[in-house]
Amino acid sequence: MPVPTTGDLFRPTDPDFLQDPYPTYARLRVEAPIAWYAGWGKWIVTRHRDVDALLRDRRLGRVDHHLTPATERAPGNPAHAAFDAIQAGSLLEIEPPDHTRVKQVVHDVFTPRHVRALRSRIEALVEGLLDGLEARGAGGFDLIRDFAEPIPVTVIAELLGVDEADRHRLLPWSKAIIGMFEPERTPAMEAAAVTAAGEFAGFVRDLMAAKRRESADDLISRMVAVHDADPERLTEGEVVANAILFLNAGHEAVVNVSGNGMLALLRHPEQARAVRDEPALLQSAIEEMMRYDTPLQFFERLVLEDMTYGGHEWPQGTRLCLYYAAANRDPEVFADPERFDVRRHPNPHLAFGLGLHYCIGAPLARLELAVALGALLRRFPRIALAGGEHRFQPKNVFRYLTELRVTV
Ligand code: HEM
Repeated sequence: MPVPTTGDLFRPTDPDFLQDPYPTYARLRVEAPIAWYAGWGKWIVTRHRDVDALLRDRRLGRVDHHLTPATERAPGNPAHAAFDAIQAGSLLEIEPPDHTRVKQVVHDVFTPRHVRALRSRIEALVEGLLDGLEARGAGGFDLIRDFAEPIPVTVIAELLGVDEADRHRLLPWSKAIIGMFEPERTPAMEAAAVTAAGEFAGFVRDLMAAKRRESADDLISRMVAVHDADPERLTEGEVVANAILFLNAGHEAVVNVSGNGMLALLRHPEQARAVRDEPALLQSAIEEMMRYDTPLQFFERLVLEDMTYGGHEWPQGTRLCLYYAAANRDPEVFADPERFDVRRHPNPHLAFGLGLHYCIGAPLARLELAVALGALLRRFPRIALAGGEHRFQPKNVFRYLTELRVTV
């Protein structure tokens, strides 16, 4: 069949689209649910049933270099070497058997059982922050900088074993590194990502040396011990890449759900009241925040072997953008999908992905968000949006606000 294209429907540099992409997704789902976008040389996939099926399809992967011997691979851009090095062994950028081997070293740290043990630490952290905000008085605060950011940054830094004095470096490094995942990135964004990757890798290597001198009960110490005992079980590069992945992924999307989600909740004051008065609604409210304004709008997959899907013929190497954010508003799966509804149930959203690369941090993220947002609504029952406009960062992959001023 002729190749369907996104035509004029999809304009990923249009400022209106970047502020509110959902009307475009709605049209794409109906008019061009699987369509070629020449601007990126990639397919755009927007229906829930397709995103769901393709995430489970083992003919697709995040990368294909496990299929090609190193000597036959096309050389990367030498200017990006420092960035490529921190990607190469990260869980998100490897496929089985390497993915299975690396995940086995770390996975129990993030299981629901292990994560539950962190609850009291997270509660103490949140209450401490709220005490400080309450002491400031009636002026209100920036929900992102003053509340949402410090929680997951502290939790993931403690899990990995990063000293308090170094934690302020994590957010800027992460923000620079994620710029490389944006298809509309500029050369300046690429340069910033490469610089941050080099600095971050150096920092992690120094930390590894410190853990070798004095091991502790943290994930970097554990990865170092596994590597030192058997470098084939976990390479040095994999320790660095995954430490960086956890230290970035461990806060980035949690902060973005807090910002996007609280904006949605406070735009619906009756729903905010319901969550405050009926704490049993907290968990479904958090799921709805992730569905309604998904922080990672899409992730890419690569076709690993020639395949046909839904009448489309995709040779090996074809790239697909699986739009979790569009799938999450698909009326075939969600009744009245444009409505923010804290009682929505069931809510099979794809904000954490699905299949092999399903978010390892989902139980931790859910716990952090429940503790933090529950306590916030209890402590400040009159919390409301301060006046002014709320502009999302003009990004295609990462959807987030950098400021959300509230009054209490
Ligand atoms: C609400 C917050 C979060 C959201 C929305 C989120 C979202 C996602 C998504 C969509 C993926 C899959 C990417 C793909 O399909 O290619 C993913 C993977 C991942 N996430 Fe999260 N994440 C969150 C929090 C966390 C936290 C707290 C951690 C803690 C370490 C984390 C660590 C990871 C890792 C390591 C992967 C790669 C897993 C793999 O490839 O096997 N994430 N996340």
